[in-house]
Amino acid sequence: MATPTRESWEAAYREVEAALQSADPAQAPDLLKLEEVRVRFLGRKGSLTELLKSLKDLSIEDKRELGPKANSLKLSLDEKIEKRQRQLQVAADEAALQGASIDVTLPGYRPPRGRLHPLTQTLQEMTRILSLMGFSWAEGPLVETDDNNFTKLNIPEHHSARDMLDTFYLAGERSEMRESLLMRTHTSPVQIRAMLAQKPPIRVMAPGRVFRHEAVDATHSAVFHQVEGLYVDRKVTLADLKGTLQQFMQKMLGAETKMRFRPSYFPFTEPSTEVDVNCFFCKGQGCGICKQSGWIELLGAGLVHPNVFKAVNYDPEHWSGFAFGIGVERIAMLRLGIKDIRHFYENDARFLRQFDESLV
Ligand code: DAH
Repeated sequence: MATPTRESWEAAYREVEAALQSADPAQAPDLLKLEEVRVRFLGRKGSLTELLKSLKDLSIEDKRELGPKANSLKLSLDEKIEKRQRQLQVAADEAALQGASIDVTLPGYRPPRGRLHPLTQTLQEMTRILSLMGFSWAEGPLVETDDNNFTKLNIPEHHSARDMLDTFYLAGERSEMRESLLMRTHTSPVQIRAMLAQKPPIRVMAPGRVFRHEAVDATHSAVFHQVEGLYVDRKVTLADLKGTLQQFMQKMLGAETKMRFRPSYFPFTEPSTEVDVNCFFCKGQGCGICKQSGWIELLGAGLVHPNVFKAVNYDPEHWSGFAFGIGVERIAMLRLGIKDIRHFYENDARFLRQFDESLV
């Protein structure tokens, strides 16, 4: 601007005023347009800025008179811009919130949740049912004495189970007891421990791990699990055994489950029986799983042999009882449709993930 006179300055002032009328910041439709207005009047080269700068070239009197005028015009413009800016900002925030709204009814993120191993699930279900039937929990060590695992269970010296090829013996002897130690081959020694520890009547279940010196394949593992049952009382008969197992099988495998006893031999029971259930895959019609027989072999059982009672100093004339041993893997494989026992021990999450607790 050329050096102003009072007249030219006042003309310029009116021009700015008029321009402000038409470019009213209160009407700016958005923050961008508002900024344009601010730059146009108040930017470094803005018309109002120039006007204020040129005051210095006026006479002192003119400055005194016109200066406040120009200043109040600037102040009111500042105020208008600030006010509009706040309004537009609030509107912009609200719009942004609308767009990125949070749906509080959506489900949250589930943290990955672990689950029990299918064998643990099966074992828990078995012991849950037995405990409802009055069996209490009994346990024994995995390293057993030859005496508890074999001798007291009436397993004779020449029995093939005592062969090194079938049993893991521990090196050395406990010299003070002159006893050889082994990894228990079944849960039956817990029967001995329970009877030595308490007086009859007895009703215990003994779930746990057992070991066999065995070549591993789809249906054999050197380590597996059993649940043992033992009931000792006066006048216990095969009918008690049958009723108990029938109850158990129906709870475990379904109300329509049928059961049959097949004569068998175990050194620690007399009579001994193997227990089959009707094949729940083909409903007894005959299929690959039951080898076309319609029946699936599930466990061994029998009435406690008098020699076992004698071994724990129970009078076999007075006391009687039944016992059974069930393979946990076998039940789990049948119920869950697992074809290879090795899956249980490989800890492959892709396998384990499939077995929700609700399935068992
Ligand atoms: N201990 C036997 C085994 O490992 C299973 C068994 C059979 C247990 C008959 C028993 C029983 O209590 O009475 O093969």
